[in-house]
Amino acid sequence: MKTFEFGQDKTKLSSIVLGLMRIKNLSPSQVEELIETALSVGINTFDLADIYGGGRSEEILGQILKNRPDLREQMWIQSKCGIRIEEFTYFDFSKEHILNSVEGILQRLHIDQLDSLLLHRPDVLMEPEEVAEAFDHLEKTGKVRHFGVSNQNPMMIELLKTAVSQPLMINQLQLSAAFAPEFDAGFHVNMEKNISNSGTTSIFEYARANDMVIQAWSVLQHGYFQGVFIGDQTFEKLNQVLNRLAQQYQTTPSAIAIAWVLRYPTNMQAIIGTTQPQRILEAAQASEITLSRKEWYEIYLAAGKTLP
Ligand SMILES: NC(=O)c1ccc[n+]([C@@H]2O[C@H](COP(=O)([O-])OP(=O)(O)OC[C@H]3O[C@@H](n4cnc5c(N)ncnc54)[C@H](OP(=O)(O)O)[C@@H]3O)[C@@H](O)[C@H]2O)c1
Repeated sequence: MKTFEFGQDKTKLSSIVLGLMRIKNLSPSQVEELIETALSVGINTFDLADIYGGGRSEEILGQILKNRPDLREQMWIQSKCGIRIEEFTYFDFSKEHILNSVEGILQRLHIDQLDSLLLHRPDVLMEPEEVAEAFDHLEKTGKVRHFGVSNQNPMMIELLKTAVSQPLMINQLQLSAAFAPEFDAGFHVNMEKNISNSGTTSIFEYARANDMVIQAWSVLQHGYFQGVFIGDQTFEKLNQVLNRLAQQYQTTPSAIAIAWVLRYPTNMQAIIGTTQPQRILEAAQASEITLSRKEWYEIYLAAGKTLP
């Protein structure tokens, strides 16, 4: 498993992360098997959010950690807050909400400290000073070791930095061979037909320039949770290329698709969301594959994209 050094203590984080968004209907023993499988292939980073399964994802992991404190030492545990699902969904980066969320996360997980906390989705009404007060408190009390964001553009991060003193070390962003609006926009800079459907640009370059780890989510999905593109006939050409490269590298098409994400040249983590141990083993193979430039661009084009 490829790793990179993170933070001042240079913790080695795995290039593949196991995301626990989809585990709410699994039993604790099934989730324990998933975690054991991940650890067995060197995956040491685990991603959660307070809203996953309405808190159930964290509760299940908490039950496991209560009985298996030995696992905690091997795991980098990350969670996210800032999305409120009530009568409707909205976003809340207030100090009170961040602090209450972290209390809930730690209680559900039966742990004293999170390795990293991310702000889940931008809250346009955020006051950077309030976020700073919340982060200062969480850092001083030892409840959170590292901080980051998710789905934020460069100016949002700059705005946070006007008050927050802790380094924002991670940005978690959606990226897959079939979902790359940031790259699409980047390729078409200075072109007559400007392709920019996300309204944001340079998130990836900003992360690189500022030493932020990029954690890619939904690495096998197209659209916004529209499904897995592996084996989907709508993505016939993409699957043809993935299948051919899978044969060439003696691996699976999903491992090639994940290797495509990991080829982006920075401290990159691909978050996989499978609930099946076998698929964790397959995904882990991606970490060992470095696609050539030509292969990377071939996959990009096979997904129906264009280049100038
Ligand atoms: N920051 C954010 O806003 C955000 C948003 C979404 C997700 N995330 C994080 O990213 C993680 C991963 O997201 P995700 O679950 O959408 O990622 P994903 O790995 O792209 O998708 C996982 C889903 O794909 C299925 N799958 C995997 N391999 C397959 C294959 N070869 N053929 C058919 N189906 C396959 C899995 O089914 P099986 O379980 O049956 O394998 C599972 O339902 C989440 O757990 C969460 O931690 C973050």
